[in-house]
Amino acid sequence: MIENRKEEHITIAENNNVSMEHNYWDDIKLIHQAVPEIDFDKIDTKTKFILHNIGAPMIISSMTGGTDKAKKINYNLAVAAEKFNIPMGVGSMRAAIEKPELSATFSVILERKVPVRLANIGAPQLIQQSKKPFLDSDIEKLFNLIEANYLIVHFNYLQEMVQPEGDHNAKGVLKRLKELAASYPVIAKETGNGFSHEAAIDLKDAGVKAIDVGGSGGTSFAAIEYYRAKKSSDTEKMRSGISFWNWGIPSPASIRFCDVGLPVIGSGGLRNGQDLAKAIAFGAVAGGFARSLLKSADTTADEIIDEISYILRDLKIAMFLTRSDNIKKLKKVKYFVTEPLGSWLKIYE
Ligand SMILES: Cc1cc2nc3c(=O)[nH]c(=O)nc-3n(C[C@H](O)[C@H](O)[C@H](O)COP(=O)(O)O)c2cc1C
Repeated sequence: MIENRKEEHITIAENNNVSMEHNYWDDIKLIHQAVPEIDFDKIDTKTKFILHNIGAPMIISSMTGGTDKAKKINYNLAVAAEKFNIPMGVGSMRAAIEKPELSATFSVILERKVPVRLANIGAPQLIQQSKKPFLDSDIEKLFNLIEANYLIVHFNYLQEMVQPEGDHNAKGVLKRLKELAASYPVIAKETGNGFSHEAAIDLKDAGVKAIDVGGSGGTSFAAIEYYRAKKSSDTEKMRSGISFWNWGIPSPASIRFCDVGLPVIGSGGLRNGQDLAKAIAFGAVAGGFARSLLKSADTTADEIIDEISYILRDLKIAMFLTRSDNIKKLKKVKYFVTEPLGSWLKIYE
């Protein structure tokens, strides 16, 4: 059951170690400027996200929907998105198509003024699997359900390989993506394993408006599915979960590989405002946070507001100490890259 799966993902992500072993944001050091010569209180984090003016270069990444717990999480996240004037994604909306009675667990975000709303569907559901693909009318329905500004199509093929009920077919996705991108503003997103340069070119050719790298170094969906497989004693999937736990392209490297002339969202493993500053310095228009927001969003709106205010305060400190009184300047700051990220960056040289 899809709603059970979404509930299990939340419980596992909140209560287990599902992180990759190495966080590649630690391999970037922004160069400290001991003489900032700017006023901390006048630092401006406002920026442009594609066509929208937002309060900070931060996105609440797609996570959930489909259950009562998810409804609460989405509502609390929407309160915070309104407060900080930042974009927000809901989790995969497959549940709302398969069970329309679950629609309110997504549309609850319309109770708040979320400046940019991101609908979400999985690339595997665009084509024939054991189940029928989504029809144009399904996609229209879910896009309208949250009055979305963009349709995120998430690429999660490693997860599909490790989860017990995963979809195996990826043939024909690009053709269908191209059709969708002709009718909707589409953002292509990975879910923790990153996009290569080749993938980014394919996505650009398909007509997507932006790429969210969702790179490796943070939440590992192989790990999350490992815990699910363990619960059902599925040895085969447990083995794959362990073997692919750390698979993927580091988030910062994927930002570089996706430099194909489209806005790039840096995500995967962001923990704090310093990581966010690094993502912007590395070339992203915004940084996406998922699991580091989950627990507080599952508590109260005040908790998630506090959590994001800590992130944004640290972003401002990183800006202060790199002499950046606005985001334009932050994009140009000096940094130093250590291994193993340094070697990843040489792949396409
Ligand atoms: C509990 C949970 C559920 C998620 N569900 C979705 C989803 O439905 N759609 C999607 O595009 N990404 C989903 N993600 C992936 C995140 O958006 C993000 O790409 C990934 O977790 C890496 O970011 P992080 O390291 O900040 O967690 C989910 C993540 C978590 C932790």
